[in-house]
Amino acid sequence: MAEFLDNVRLSPDGTSVILLDQSLLPNRMEERQVSSLEDMVEAIQALRVRGAPAIGIFAGYCLYVLAGQLERQGLTGGDFFQELDRHGKILAAARPTAVNLAWAVDRLSHRAASMAGASVSEIVRTLGEEARAIHREDMEMCENISRYGLSLLKEGDGVLTHCNAGPLATSRYGTGQGPFHLAAQLGMKLKVYADETRPLLQGARLTAWELQRAGVDVTLICDNMASMVMKNGWIQACMVGCDRVAANGDVANKIGTSGVAILAKHYGIPFYVLGPTSTIDLNCPDGDHIPIEERDGEEIRSLWYREPMAPEGVKCYNPAFDVAPNELITAIITEKGICRPPYTQSLAALFAPEYK
Ligand code: MRU
Repeated sequence: MAEFLDNVRLSPDGTSVILLDQSLLPNRMEERQVSSLEDMVEAIQALRVRGAPAIGIFAGYCLYVLAGQLERQGLTGGDFFQELDRHGKILAAARPTAVNLAWAVDRLSHRAASMAGASVSEIVRTLGEEARAIHREDMEMCENISRYGLSLLKEGDGVLTHCNAGPLATSRYGTGQGPFHLAAQLGMKLKVYADETRPLLQGARLTAWELQRAGVDVTLICDNMASMVMKNGWIQACMVGCDRVAANGDVANKIGTSGVAILAKHYGIPFYVLGPTSTIDLNCPDGDHIPIEERDGEEIRSLWYREPMAPEGVKCYNPAFDVAPNELITAIITEKGICRPPYTQSLAALFAPEYK
């Protein structure tokens, strides 16, 4: 099995963040180094770094790098905090749906605020530790999620997945696709069907590539073929990641996920959502309150095509995510265990003191 790649890391001197540019995969494996707030936001918006947990990890490192710049500019006291807050808000607003982005920025901002009397260099050093902790914890969470997820599958199962919730979107194993990587390591055979995931093809470009590298038996299908493979009896479970889980268990994930959940219900196939507790937003009561990113229609009209595949100027609707309602979700698998309906209770229980 191939080594897990470093999708996001800090430069050795801590003055920039290095990312594997996912927008170029699978054809080119290139790293990009960012140190300005503008380039950091661009990397998130252009999906050079993408996937809910990965953008959280990236944002943590970015805020640390930016804090170091404020220190070198000589900012102290209220001026330092004001600028840190401004940078954090801009980073957190780069994409709206995945809660991990704002979650990571909040976590570092609160850490800084709790050190109000300390020197700026002490605060910056602590922010570096916090950013590294987010990354380290995500690795541990992904491994646990993968174990819980794999416990729901058996040798020879066919599993359908959507988008990319593997190591590139997280760290190490991944979430929605973590069980497949773990199975490969353990020598357990699964047959994975990866939706190509229009319009940005995260399934074709990233999931198929990652799973093939890991030695997993993966078959790529177009999104509109999911019903056919389910009808053929080839799918025993669906597993996907998540960008935000509302308190009632409604799940926002890559556009097309709710369609897969509806099909799974029709064919009586369990539909599992896998994600870390950092993706659960108990402040968000239900899916109607999850902000859905809308992206440029050019991604539908012409991106990935040698020639435009739609008439110039045609109106396009391009939501990047949709919400699968909780009644279609068999279980939500986190690093702390498997949550079953009713989700209002089972998700809240994860945050009870005895679980910390
Ligand atoms: O727009 P993207 O590529 O960032 O969307 C990513 C997804 O929807 C993933 O499935 C989700 O973030 C889960 S990642 C572990």
